[in-house]
Amino acid sequence: MHAPAEPILDEAIVDEVIARYPDATGDVLSMLEELQHRHPHRYLPRPTLEQVARKTGLSRSQIYSVVTFYSFFNLKPQGRHTIAVCRGTACHTRGSRGLLESLANRLGIPPAEREQATFTSPGREVTIRTVACFGQCALAPVVAADEEIHGHMTDLKLRALADHVLTAEARP
Ligand code: FES
Repeated sequence: MHAPAEPILDEAIVDEVIARYPDATGDVLSMLEELQHRHPHRYLPRPTLEQVARKTGLSRSQIYSVVTFYSFFNLKPQGRHTIAVCRGTACHTRGSRGLLESLANRLGIPPAEREQATFTSPGREVTIRTVACFGQCALAPVVAADEEIHGHMTDLKLRALADHVLTAEARP
């Protein structure tokens, strides 16, 4: 399956958000956060970042250093749902690598993309993230689906969870 075309954020929306932050240097983090939030795929497309640079006078390097420093900024379109798999020590020793592989297989993620900390299914239904620790090590291995924690995960349970997420309504 081919990934859908990458949707850009309407220029009028970008202008509207920029206008709310007259101190572009001091408010750059909040401004970019809001822009990402306004995008239906929760990411910052390149044309949006170019527009921010053009309209605020911030340099491209200032903007890119912010969006690449903070892990909550996305430079690629995100799936409608997120499944996060813990790769911390406790979860690793209880099989989280196998869970991640199995999930990636189920969602048709090409092998080359699986080395990234974040990857998205070809139809953008689900973004899979790895995290360092949820702080729930007693429940290892731990997975979160749309931020809801699921402990003592098994391959069978994860398949059911992925199927549930895939058939669930897209979140607003
Ligand atoms: S190592 Fe997975 S929750 Fe802590």
